[in-house]
Amino acid sequence: MSIDPDKLKFFSFLLFTKLEGAVTSGMVHLGDHLGLYRAMAAAPHPLTTTQLAAATGLRERWVREWAYNQAAAKLISFSSLRSQPAQLDDDTFYLSPEQIAVLADESHPAFGMGMFHRLPQTMESLKRMPESFRTGIGHNYDSHGPDGAIGIERSFEPWNNANLIPLVLPAVGVIDTLRAGATVADVGSGAGGAVLRMAAEFPNSTFVGYDISQYALARANERLDASGLTNARFADPQVEPLPTDNSVNFVCTFDCIHDMTHPLVVMKAIRAALRNDGVWLLVDIKAHDSFVMNAEKNPMASLMYGISVLSCMSSSLSTPDGAGLGTLGLSEMTAESMAQTAGFTSFERLDVEHSVNAFYAIRP
Ligand SMILES: C[S@@+](CC[C@H](N)C(=O)[O-])C[C@H]1O[C@@H](n2cnc3c(N)ncnc32)[C@H](O)[C@@H]1O
Repeated sequence: MSIDPDKLKFFSFLLFTKLEGAVTSGMVHLGDHLGLYRAMAAAPHPLTTTQLAAATGLRERWVREWAYNQAAAKLISFSSLRSQPAQLDDDTFYLSPEQIAVLADESHPAFGMGMFHRLPQTMESLKRMPESFRTGIGHNYDSHGPDGAIGIERSFEPWNNANLIPLVLPAVGVIDTLRAGATVADVGSGAGGAVLRMAAEFPNSTFVGYDISQYALARANERLDASGLTNARFADPQVEPLPTDNSVNFVCTFDCIHDMTHPLVVMKAIRAALRNDGVWLLVDIKAHDSFVMNAEKNPMASLMYGISVLSCMSSSLSTPDGAGLGTLGLSEMTAESMAQTAGFTSFERLDVEHSVNAFYAIRP
């Protein structure tokens, strides 16, 4: 078969845009890690690279090359005097309000540095992948080390901090129950952000966060100690399983069922823990029922399938009999069917708008 030179050029370009994304993502990690974005956000005016280096205590030559990468990728803004010959301080760099929100403002719901925080750990797992492809056995969240847990915390909390209490919990209809005093379990609680936020808001209720990651539990306990809250605690369900006496009013699972080796077993455990009038809030990745639909309708599909190999599916296959659902493996239809098998009879999709997640209220 002959090669079409235009198609060849286009395909090579397409391929190298992926490498550009990977390398620029590494630079984003550095911008966050080294405080470069925060320094630009805090500056009252655009900065030369000399000023940015001084503000961050870094070497100008390195900062300059980084800034050129970021500005060429249109991730940071710049203005240029265009002197002839070019002078070092011709170019100044700054962040637009939107760039500040995503790159530098941890309190903004659109803050996006979490996945970049854990990029080195995520990419490090490439070294383990050839073995996993041969044996079929993946690696759980602890394989990403303590920074893996912090990266997850920084990924999900900005949106949750802004929306969990005012938007999501009213949609589930649990506010009155939580105010009156309820028992709550957050399964797959990670670094504990949702538990700590709810425990502070609802002092009459008691909260237990369950996670199998020792790094996530350590981080959650550290934050619990710092909070001074007395109505929350964290446990490893392998040591302390969920109660089986239908005593819990409210269970939540945020972005974790698709990561689990035995999601159906956990759903059955949630059913056994819940009171008959209780409710389970399932938050999981918005997924379609087939690869073709995900590829057509989800502009992030390739990112998600890649993260699945490196993180989510790997976690779900970290035991030989793991389910291996993967990042896009829990579509609404799959979730409903599994919930039915686990003993739930009511499945409702909630009207909560999120770029990546779907929200369901599931009842016995
Ligand atoms: C993507 S993280 C989400 C963490 C947290 N819910 C959040 O929103 O930040 C998935 C979490 O599920 C946990 N996990 C996986 N399998 C689990 C299981 N069987 N029981 C409890 N936690 C589990 C992992 O250790 C990890 O902390």
